[in-house]
Amino acid sequence: MDFSSHIRANMKKYPRLLQKLKAIKRAASPEQPFSDKLVEANKRLKHHSQSIAAVAREHLQISRLRQYPSELLPSSFWTIILARFADELPKLTTAEAALVYLTDAFTINMAAETTHGCLPVYKYTLKGEFPHFDGLIDQVECSPYLTPDRLVSSNGKLVSSAFFAHLRSLLCCLTWIDRPSTVCEIGGGYGGLAVLWMNNPHHAPDVYVLVDFPESLFFAEIFVRANDPEAKVLYVKGADDLSPNVVEEYDYVLCPSDCAVHLHRMHFDVVVNMFSFQEMTEQAVDYWMNWLDDQNCQYLYSLNIFGLSLSQMRSVLPGCALWSPRLSDRWIARLQNVSAGPMHAHGQPVAEMIFEKINPLSQKTKGPFKTREAFVAELYEIQREPNQERVLEFVRSWAFADAPPREILAIFNGVLARTDENFKREHAGIITSLNDRLRY
Ligand SMILES: C[S@@+](CC[C@H](N)C(=O)[O-])C[C@H]1O[C@@H](n2cnc3c(N)ncnc32)[C@H](O)[C@@H]1O
Repeated sequence: MDFSSHIRANMKKYPRLLQKLKAIKRAASPEQPFSDKLVEANKRLKHHSQSIAAVAREHLQISRLRQYPSELLPSSFWTIILARFADELPKLTTAEAALVYLTDAFTINMAAETTHGCLPVYKYTLKGEFPHFDGLIDQVECSPYLTPDRLVSSNGKLVSSAFFAHLRSLLCCLTWIDRPSTVCEIGGGYGGLAVLWMNNPHHAPDVYVLVDFPESLFFAEIFVRANDPEAKVLYVKGADDLSPNVVEEYDYVLCPSDCAVHLHRMHFDVVVNMFSFQEMTEQAVDYWMNWLDDQNCQYLYSLNIFGLSLSQMRSVLPGCALWSPRLSDRWIARLQNVSAGPMHAHGQPVAEMIFEKINPLSQKTKGPFKTREAFVAELYEIQREPNQERVLEFVRSWAFADAPPREILAIFNGVLARTDENFKREHAGIITSLNDRLRY
């Protein structure tokens, strides 16, 4: 029996090989709408593959010459991962090799079969939660450079499980933070959220700053340059690189975390942290909390493991801080979401939060964002409100949300039915605009 007949006859004994062969077959199959995309993308990358990897390696080596501050050293969790990176790095001499490696190094990109089964629930959840981004959800797609057995075609668009996790966080930020022009992500991993955010059709920032360990930035740099070849990328080597007129010329800034102090001349509309504070030491979390206080920035978006039981701490997050983010009283929570969707559910409890930095001299008057939870609570309160002006104000405050909930029309109809002609004349302006707005 030759080798291939032997493999065919004994397929069940080699489950991993079987899985890989299926993935290759799927990617190469002419019926697969994405096989052409992968071939095209790889053709585009081929010419630059070695030079991209060489530039990223040179940057890593420059950063590694500096002594890392002790408070920014990795937790035991990340020490193991960085040691693994160090072993692998000499072998990753092309962008292709690094892109395959990074697919599973920073986040969960599930096997294509599993993601395929989850597609309907991912899409329905996103479309239900963000109906105002219904079109965008169908338009965006993920990198063609991730390992093919992690990729799935969904209505002609390439997706992976981590892509949905990044997309959900993007939709949340785009919903609550109005068109941010400067975004800084601490611990952005391979840059999946960064590239998605910079290329989404709704609104892209002027500049996206990725702050991370130099080893992680090695992968982010390759991912960004491979997926966004026209983008201008600045790699920070010291304070001088960050004068505002220099930064203005770039789309992405890659900043090793020991250089984050040099970002103080920039303003960030939002700082993002996704599944990263949770993996830092107590000292590193303190460092980033102080940095957030000192840095000129308005919002923090955080999505991290939260509420993990103490008994699971050692096995899930060894050597990591007990509580993060733990912000000073300069920050108020405007969004607290403990059910951030199936694409973020990997067996650990998470909390998605948006905090806003407030002026220390101002009163803390800003309330929570107008989420669906807030809507339900307010609705059942206003239902008992006898003052129809207040009820009308409630209707106005929700009618101009991104996607007004249908119950608002019922309450509005109730106001119109209950009030007399005088009331309607007195509030004619707002009633007309609400009549225009609340149609279906
Ligand atoms: C699990 S990965 C998450 C990556 C990305 N945010 C995502 O969700 O796809 C955690 C990230 O945090 C970074 N990280 C861990 N400890 C850090 C520290 N002390 N300072 C800066 N970044 C850190 C890692 O390098 C990595 O990029």
